[in-house]
Amino acid sequence: MYQTHTPKQSLAYGCQISGIGAYAPPTCLTNDDLSQLVDTNDEWIQTRTGIKERRVVAGDETVAQLAIRAAKDALASAGISGDSIDLVIAASSTPDAIYPGTCAQVQHAIGAVGAAGFDMALACTGFMTAMITARQFIQTGAAKHALIVAADIHSRFVDWNDRSTCILFGDGAGAAVLSATDTPDADALLAFDMHLDGSKGSELQMGTYLSNCPLVPQRTPVQEVVYLKMNGKEVFKFAVGTVPQSIDKALKAANLTPSDIDYYVLHQANRRIMEAMAERLHIGLDKMIINLDRYGNTSAASIPLAINEAVLDGRIKPGHKLLLCGFGAGLAWTTAVIEWTSVDQRVATGLTQASAVPV
Ligand code: ACO
Repeated sequence: MYQTHTPKQSLAYGCQISGIGAYAPPTCLTNDDLSQLVDTNDEWIQTRTGIKERRVVAGDETVAQLAIRAAKDALASAGISGDSIDLVIAASSTPDAIYPGTCAQVQHAIGAVGAAGFDMALACTGFMTAMITARQFIQTGAAKHALIVAADIHSRFVDWNDRSTCILFGDGAGAAVLSATDTPDADALLAFDMHLDGSKGSELQMGTYLSNCPLVPQRTPVQEVVYLKMNGKEVFKFAVGTVPQSIDKALKAANLTPSDIDYYVLHQANRRIMEAMAERLHIGLDKMIINLDRYGNTSAASIPLAINEAVLDGRIKPGHKLLLCGFGAGLAWTTAVIEWTSVDQRVATGLTQASAVPV
């Protein structure tokens, strides 16, 4: 069984978070806008989810464009240029194409000419998994600076006739730069806990249906799995029943209690899930970074989008201890306890809050 990880092995380098960035497309859909499409209303959506509005791509905007904007923002925050990046990990379950991967488009756009890279399709745990993976490359000395970028555009993958799912999702991107430190002990990732339960995969799925070679028997036609399908009640039960155990494990592995954490940044899926977790942890909701009211569930992007906002508005500061927790399709769930180390360079370079997430 995969073990909760306490990073105290002898490794060459420590890993620090040196930059954070985000981008969301400018087009904003309110709950009232959605009531023109499906039988829903602002009151139902806000009461059941906490979402007021979400951003969506329009026209020819692509997920790679969102990812590139977030990546450039993270590089500015770290105060380094793209050619310093040795590794690009892109987390997206809604890529523009099966290949070339989103990582390749980002690498080219930021000028990370010597970087290696790969993609991860892990939906709402994508950013967490990318961060934990990148850190291993940093610790072993394989990469000095790694860019992780998480972007999803579920607005092209939901059924806009299905009111139980189309109201939940928004499009966006978030990114972070992870950098090596000279001393292995100076490590920003204090502990992490990762899980995957494929037996529950059908609770949240999005398929593709492409046909076989015309010379062989065809597949059984599938009507419904092209669009995102979710058993909302089961995913909700999983989020409030199973995921908190992972939070407990990660806190224990980091030798911390819930009150030692300055801010909790949970996957922005449903405000009721965050309220239930806050109650269980005996912490106030003011300890949670919540922005799903304005962005909805942006899947892989939701955690960095929330962190970025809280860094820019001054809530998250260097030295703060953060608990990050992603959960969703797989089903997969991952928690990490980190120490925030990024000293934001964007003010110095003149980049403003508005350019990070335009209104
Ligand atoms: N507007 C109005 N009524 C609606 C809507 C809507 N948009 N959607 C559903 N309803 C109706 C249902 O038809 C049902 O009506 P009925 O009682 O007449 O049958 C009623 O509202 C209640 O529906 P429920 O599905 O029971 O509503 P619930 O309170 O469970 O909320 C929700 C649904 C918001 C989806 C919730 O289950 C949830 O948040 N689940 C977790 C989602 C999540 O965490 N996802 C994370 C992973 S995402 C990823 O990985 C990509």
